[in-house]
Amino acid sequence: MSTLKAVRGTRDLLPPETALWNRIEATARSVFGRYNFGEIRTPIFEATSLFARGVGEETDIVSKEMYTWEDRARAQSEKPQSLTLRPENTAGVVRAYIEHKLGETGQLQKLYYIGPQFRRERPQKGRYRQFFQVGAEVMGPASAGAESPLRDAEVLEMLSTLLDELGITGWTLHLNSVGSSADRARYNDALREALQPVKEKMCADCQRRAEVNPLRVLDCKVPEDQPIIETLPKIADSLDEESKAHFAAVITALDAAGVPYTRNHRLVRGLDYYTRTTFEFTHGGLGAQNALLGGGRYDGLSEMLGGPRAPGIGFAIGLDRLVLTLQAQEVDKAAVVEKVDAYIAPMGDARNPEQLAAMNAAGLALARELRRAGLSIELGEGSFRLKKSFEAADKTARRIVILGEDELRSGILTVKDFSSGEQTKVPRAELAAFLAS
Ligand code: HAM
Repeated sequence: MSTLKAVRGTRDLLPPETALWNRIEATARSVFGRYNFGEIRTPIFEATSLFARGVGEETDIVSKEMYTWEDRARAQSEKPQSLTLRPENTAGVVRAYIEHKLGETGQLQKLYYIGPQFRRERPQKGRYRQFFQVGAEVMGPASAGAESPLRDAEVLEMLSTLLDELGITGWTLHLNSVGSSADRARYNDALREALQPVKEKMCADCQRRAEVNPLRVLDCKVPEDQPIIETLPKIADSLDEESKAHFAAVITALDAAGVPYTRNHRLVRGLDYYTRTTFEFTHGGLGAQNALLGGGRYDGLSEMLGGPRAPGIGFAIGLDRLVLTLQAQEVDKAAVVEKVDAYIAPMGDARNPEQLAAMNAAGLALARELRRAGLSIELGEGSFRLKKSFEAADKTARRIVILGEDELRSGILTVKDFSSGEQTKVPRAELAAFLAS
């Protein structure tokens, strides 16, 4: 046995599971298309500084989890460049928005992406080092309505539609507002003050967070710390009038559209670019890693990256987790075991290589004809005996088509349907229509 294995935290995705991945991706593309989103594909690696500036130096992602390397200089005059496998896609999309001057169109940009992301996290169920996200971003000049709370509500409504169309039941939308950066600074001060007398009783991480970045205390999962965290001030009390009005408008629109949500005061999210609306959709069936997707507004990100003012909102769905949820619900059993339309069984004589080659060639020609007519076909091998052909066909196809010398000469083929057990003689010219029925 080879000792070469997929690297820890990465995995191979094999059929039939990949059929489920494809179905999810196709549904996402179809839903995004109906909301007038177009696809963007950004590089899988970017300059490290993009994530340091965009996602934030202090975050877990940038400080601990990135795959970063020094890329050798090509010429003596060049300096080596620090590059990083993207840990998320929002920073790359905003970089592309700035680089291609998309803001100059004056229009709202609605972009979606599907692709791998990389984080050096401790692998466990639903958490991988290479994982896949389906995400979307809406951004543009404020004059195009990019700042409007309607955009937040529309994105959340679209997500609820996507999850419903995929057949995911039992999701919960957690909603919060982290306000403007000034609101957050005020809240951090309030938290720091409230933590002062109690932090000694908290876990070591929280004691450090209380000093460096008090907001992160709200992410703490240590059970003993929870009663203390419950008594801390809520960010809603630090929001200014504009942020409050924005959040209230999002909620009014969600209520009008009938999208259910729950207010979660502790949802501050682990990336630094968020402003105002933040959200996560969780699912009970996922265990510890229960966030199906997360997102929020990032009104200052473009400017943080040296671009024009371009408020925006977006989300990323963990595709791996969506697949786990659907598998657990067994919604996709039927799709996963789907069989091909027919198995062509050329019948040859293994002791007669010339005749065998002729039957295999005739099998390939017939398969080509049927595949071009839109049918899914598995092609057997002429040296198989009839019994072996039937066994192989029964596993993969709905019907078997026997192609022996007699059939080839007469142009009348024998087709057996595995579910009805019926055997039928079909002229070659009518075969495609017969198999399609
Ligand atoms: P995030 O919350 O870091 O946000 O990731 C979004 C989703 O990706 C998570 O809810 C989870 O489902 C999935 N995910 C994250 N890490 C892993 C992992 N190690 N293994 C498996 N799945 C994972 C973002 O990435 C933001 N860029 C979302 C966004 C877009 N905000 C605004 N626009």
